Amino acid sequence: MKIRCTACGRAYEIPDERLKAFSGTLTLPCPSCKAPITVELPQDTGGHAMEGGRERLEGDALKERILKTMKDLPAMPQVAQKAREVVANPSSSFKDLAMVIETDQAIATRILRIANSPFYGLSGKISSVQHASVILGTKTLMEILNLACSSEILGQRLPGYDLDAGELWKHSLAVAAASRIIALKVDKALEQDAFSAGLIHDAGKLILDPHILERKEEFKAFVERGDKTFLSAEQGILGFDHARLAWDACESWRIPEHIARAVGCHHDPTPSNGDLLCFVVHMADAVAMMSGIGAGLDGLLYTVHPDAARMLGLTPDDIGEIMGEIADYVDKTTQAY
Ligand SMILES: [Fe+2]
Ligand SMILES: [Fe+2]
Repeated sequence: MKIRCTACGRAYEIPDERLKAFSGTLTLPCPSCKAPITVELPQDTGGHAMEGGRERLEGDALKERILKTMKDLPAMPQVAQKAREVVANPSSSFKDLAMVIETDQAIATRILRIANSPFYGLSGKISSVQHASVILGTKTLMEILNLACSSEILGQRLPGYDLDAGELWKHSLAVAAASRIIALKVDKALEQDAFSAGLIHDAGKLILDPHILERKEEFKAFVERGDKTFLSAEQGILGFDHARLAWDACESWRIPEHIARAVGCHHDPTPSNGDLLCFVVHMADAVAMMSGIGAGLDGLLYTVHPDAARMLGLTPDDIGEIMGEIADYVDKTTQAY
């Protein structure tokens, strides 16, 4: 910020960094003539600044604003969450599950279309959601539900991240499939949670995309300044990244805490203190990147946690096999949906 002493006329430049702790009216002695210089600062500079007359937020202030104003990610959290609760309740029936799903007609219709697609080998045979739940079983129905909810949402074009329509969905499917395969190797009980966490791990990108688009030039310049990743640009410019934002968003969608944590730690599982699900999803994301089913420009710069492969007992051969399986899964699923 530039200031000028009205008594002696000398001008000074004070780094904005140093003014962050102050707000309102600030009086400083002129270093030259010692006369008082009065400076008017924005009311609260902690995470706030002005840009072209508009308020520019960063860090926690921006994150809170985004979380408050984000558009609902349609249907995924509510119907899927209610369905999960029904499935977890041992006294509930197929009928109860169908009733929950049928509360959302758009989702119910899509489930019927998918259940009747050649992928499940039952074309023309499934007439209702309840019928689908009996014939396909709860596990498959839940998977279809998750995919039906996510295909529309994750299938959007994300201009901020330079992702064409369907690219994020393919990447999410690849990470969901890889998470499931890895979970089955390390702890079978994690299978479904790993699939769900893998599917939504990059949901933060959906929320953040319009904000990235708004500051696209700044992001470009940041990334071009050396070998910087898009993730480090998010951290450097916004003060948080899409993984951290999604962690908080998961909490407000009432997604179980361990899944939220795996989503939040998918780029760096270190803060999870060795949580297996976090490492599974992190490794799955890396494997999807290695397969070229990436989500954006960061593929070549992706950093894999040094202990991940050892912790999960994965050899280079295992990783090669998983890469083949997920490519196949993504092809088949995108055709069916
Ligand atoms: Fe990510
Ligand atoms: Fe990802």
